[in-house]
Amino acid sequence: MVQTLTVLGLESSCDDTAAAVVRQTEGAGAEILSSVVHGQTDLHSAYGGVVPEIAARAHAEKLDTCVIQALEAARLELRDIDAIAVTAGPGLIGGVLSGVMCAKGLSAATGLPLIGVNHLAGHALTPRLTDGISFPYLMLLVSGGHCQYLIAHGPERFTRLGGTIDDAPGEAFDKTARLLGLRQPGGPSVEAEARAGDPKRFRFPRPLLDRPGCDLSFSGLKTALMRMRDQIVAEKGGLTRQDRADLCAGFQQAIVDTLAEKTRRAIDLYLDLNPSVPVIAVAGGVAANSAIRSALETVCAEKGTQFTAPPLPLCTDNAAMIAYAGLERFRNGSRDGLDLTARPRWPLDQRSPAMLGSGKKGAKA
Ligand code: KG4
Ligand code: ZN
Repeated sequence: MVQTLTVLGLESSCDDTAAAVVRQTEGAGAEILSSVVHGQTDLHSAYGGVVPEIAARAHAEKLDTCVIQALEAARLELRDIDAIAVTAGPGLIGGVLSGVMCAKGLSAATGLPLIGVNHLAGHALTPRLTDGISFPYLMLLVSGGHCQYLIAHGPERFTRLGGTIDDAPGEAFDKTARLLGLRQPGGPSVEAEARAGDPKRFRFPRPLLDRPGCDLSFSGLKTALMRMRDQIVAEKGGLTRQDRADLCAGFQQAIVDTLAEKTRRAIDLYLDLNPSVPVIAVAGGVAANSAIRSALETVCAEKGTQFTAPPLPLCTDNAAMIAYAGLERFRNGSRDGLDLTARPRWPLDQRSPAMLGSGKKGAKA
């Protein structure tokens, strides 16, 4: 019998409190019935980064409102829902716990099945939610907390080809913005400055390009930028608008070139699987960067593969991706009990060795 499933999803692993309802009839495309996101940027802006305790408290205060709003926007009640999906990691543990406790409460009160979702699986399965693409596909996940190349074989089966050994690209954009006195989040500010800049004036390193494989490193870029900035200040007493634009353009170009080359290598590994319709998908907040997007499009055209990037609200953290990933797990027969635990670290590919470093979302997965 063809089954239609309606899943409520909750997300609270970093600085966005979110709830959403997603519905899918077997064999058809998924539909987002509602998606509510309450960001916390203002709460953290005075501290130059996400403060875990403030984030956890704000999630705990906001989650039930988000759930009510998501159900109202979908014109549904809890009795119309088939399962409750919640981000159970990786992320800032206080926030993840807030979401897991809220979902457990709802599950205990209604008797609805509970499904713990890996936040990274939520991002990695987004192209199936938006475009219905088939497995296996190659995913580049680039956000403020994560950066990795994954082959998605199934809803719970991923192979990590490589990832950052230190900062995620979003972190590098945010730190660069801080060093140059630009607004947070840094990605859009640095991208806007870079438009008026000369990417060739300052020569930034292209980290790890001399090493084989798809691992990446971004922490050296901000150190290079700091040295260049300090040298200009020592020579001229300050930065002109053009200096700042040129620094942003050089920094962004280094990220673009590095991601383009590592993506070429990841595509070669992926094509060894002989996928019938090769597809490369990108997700995460950094996927909003138009220079990065167009470089990835060019690489995919070179390699004869399709390229897909979800719309921005589904690239950044949201609960629709969690509801959808939960729906896929539920269809596969997975269920969790009230003993579901919150996990600060939860790699998608359990067989790969842990990555080094730790990002704004805690330990790298
Ligand atoms: O996926 P996301 O919303 O949250 C995390 O899971 O981290 O990503 C946020 C990150 C921030 O570091 C932000 O600076 C970066 O994405 N970002 C961008 C752009 N828009 C957002 N980075 C580069 N260019 C952009 N246009
Ligand atoms: Zn995320």
